[in-house]
Amino acid sequence: MVVKTPPMGWNSWNTFADRINEEIVRTMADVMVNEGYLDAGYNYLVIDDCWALRERGADGRMVPDPAKFPNGMKAVADYVHSKGLKFGMYSCVGNFTCGGFPGSFEYEFIDAATLAEWGVDFLKLDYCYKPGTEPGARLYRRMALALENCGREILLSACSWGAEETHRWIKSTGASMWRSTGDVFDTWSSVRDIYNIQKGIYEYNGAGCFNDMDMLVVGMYGKGHVGLDNGLTLDEYRTHFSMWAFFGSPLMMGSDIRGADDDIKSILLNKDVIAVDQDPAYRQPYNVNGADTWARHMANGDIVLAVFNVSDNDGGYFIPFCELGLGRVTGRGLRIRNLWTGEDLGVRKEQIAGGIKAHSTVLLRCEVVEL
Ligand code: GLA
Repeated sequence: MVVKTPPMGWNSWNTFADRINEEIVRTMADVMVNEGYLDAGYNYLVIDDCWALRERGADGRMVPDPAKFPNGMKAVADYVHSKGLKFGMYSCVGNFTCGGFPGSFEYEFIDAATLAEWGVDFLKLDYCYKPGTEPGARLYRRMALALENCGREILLSACSWGAEETHRWIKSTGASMWRSTGDVFDTWSSVRDIYNIQKGIYEYNGAGCFNDMDMLVVGMYGKGHVGLDNGLTLDEYRTHFSMWAFFGSPLMMGSDIRGADDDIKSILLNKDVIAVDQDPAYRQPYNVNGADTWARHMANGDIVLAVFNVSDNDGGYFIPFCELGLGRVTGRGLRIRNLWTGEDLGVRKEQIAGGIKAHSTVLLRCEVVEL
């Protein structure tokens, strides 16, 4: 399956883990539609691990746990589709999933056919219990082939945590997104560490096969399966969301959006920031004048500037436009808008500088204008 922009949606793991069930899926589908998430672009509803019985059926097929999914998966998929959403499920390249349920190793074609029958549109394929003798690349290629030949469009979401230098081979497999790190937690250090890992691999992200920085923890406030303490501050949640959007990661919400407050909604539903993530060109970002200052050129000719202050101290930033290809010789400057405050910063001629609080982000969309 070919995707042009980073996939968006909601995934059950961060909040519900093994407590996922049909009722939650139906409620989440309603919330995604009624609260504006689908309109904002979040169109995949994905069930993560722990949906199946521990044993395959006599026919070799995976069996949904009847205590959690009493009407089977087709009924769930039908409901999700009836809301205008797409339906995602989860398996593993190994013999078992991370939760110890049946994995797809050597069942790839059977599982792809089963998913197609149920009406599944997305498969997250994890990496636990992978036989040591099998290279990951081969197993992702095999499942991609199975999906591409199952008679239904099913997006393959690889989840190999960056193992075996995933970034070097993943585009050869047919996956549309690939996890580049270990699991996210609802802590500042987890988000910061995932960001820092991107510094070594951001050149490998690209249209058609997007670097998945993991599910968003925005709005978890320390609750749910990957929640710890009180979670992040609002400023930190904004930084987290900005990082994922700036680097063009899939945006898969992971918090319990049934109870999202207005502050959290203003982050998850910020159309301008989502538009950065979803830019149709997906041009590679580049580093400007120092470690945590970045630029990305947009399809419409704008430039997005991002400054992430991951240190524990307040600081400052300085961006000379000559580093963006502009500068005095061009007779052009930038009309600048702050994407979090909405503030119009007017036209700047040769540079922009300012202060930035610890753990916060400055995200600016800049239009090239004649001076
Ligand atoms: C791994 C993945 C997570 C989640 C769990 C489920 O840890 O990286 O995203 O899918 O397995 O068990």
